[in-house]
Amino acid sequence: MRLTVTLAACSILAARSVRGWGAIGHETVGYVAMKFLSPKALSFVQSSLGSEYSESLGPAAPWADDVRFEAAFSWSAPFHFVDAEDNPPTSCSVEQMRDCSSGTCILSAIANYTTRVVDISLSTEQRQEALKFIDHFIGDIGQPLHVEAVEVGGNDINAVCNGERTNLHAVWDSGIINIFLKAQYSNSAIVWANALAQRIQTGEFKSLTSTWLSCSSTTEPVNNRRRSIEDDINGLVSDATITPLECPLVWARESNAYDCSFVFSYTGFSDLCTSSYATGAQPIIEEQIAKQGYRLAAWLNVLFDGSTGL
Ligand SMILES: *[C@@H]1O[C@H](CO)[C@@H](O)[C@H](O)[C@H]1NC(C)=O
Ligand SMILES: [Zn+2]
Repeated sequence: MRLTVTLAACSILAARSVRGWGAIGHETVGYVAMKFLSPKALSFVQSSLGSEYSESLGPAAPWADDVRFEAAFSWSAPFHFVDAEDNPPTSCSVEQMRDCSSGTCILSAIANYTTRVVDISLSTEQRQEALKFIDHFIGDIGQPLHVEAVEVGGNDINAVCNGERTNLHAVWDSGIINIFLKAQYSNSAIVWANALAQRIQTGEFKSLTSTWLSCSSTTEPVNNRRRSIEDDINGLVSDATITPLECPLVWARESNAYDCSFVFSYTGFSDLCTSSYATGAQPIIEEQIAKQGYRLAAWLNVLFDGSTGL
């Protein structure tokens, strides 16, 4: 057990420098979701993840990043993002046909693992794997640079974070988070998740939650705002072929819109994790993490309990 933990810690460090909310961001999405699960969804999560993951979506969320660089899981690497071929900050957009025509991107991955997690013909292990992928990808899709092709999602854009040389993608995955986590949340994903859940239940996010679940974003034309999480999941589960889903596409467009409104507004020589850029980024990151945690719960609730219950 000790050996497993050490190996996992090493691979997290290796993975963190490349892509994906860092482990902290993913864990926080999972811990937020745990606060909003309906009874059957919660019961499946607990029994599927078991003691290895403390029966929680929090500790299970980084798994997909831990394994993506292992040869046995290299096929899963393209599932962590969608390369939107847009032109930030001038114009932002995500198009299923243009950006995911190969069917190997985060949009199709969410559909695939949503069907698999409830497929009783699969093994317990395969369904746990599907759950861990959903847990992770519903987090990743909220990271604006996971929904952007420019410079490999910002991985090839040099940046300075807290005095160290890094890249823009890493600044968004973990650089800015690490600083405010320490300053405001006792350096703990659980403390941060509790604070976000509180804001959802009684605070500044409460009035936003119905729009978070409606699968419509303010950047969408009104006549496109038609699907719900229930529509997406009912369509998927009744149809053997994996058809494009509306909600993940809307979520992707919403995070991608931040590439035009904020992410690419950096100035080359400032320290992006300690300057006004970080101050501007923090509310975006906190809302994205809270929102994706809430959406993850809603997604699983519809799958296992038949409605969001939220
Ligand atoms: C769906 O998931 C399975 C199991 O991980 C994988 O082998 C398959 O390639 C996936 N299919 C698609 C279309 O992503
Ligand atoms: Zn990832």
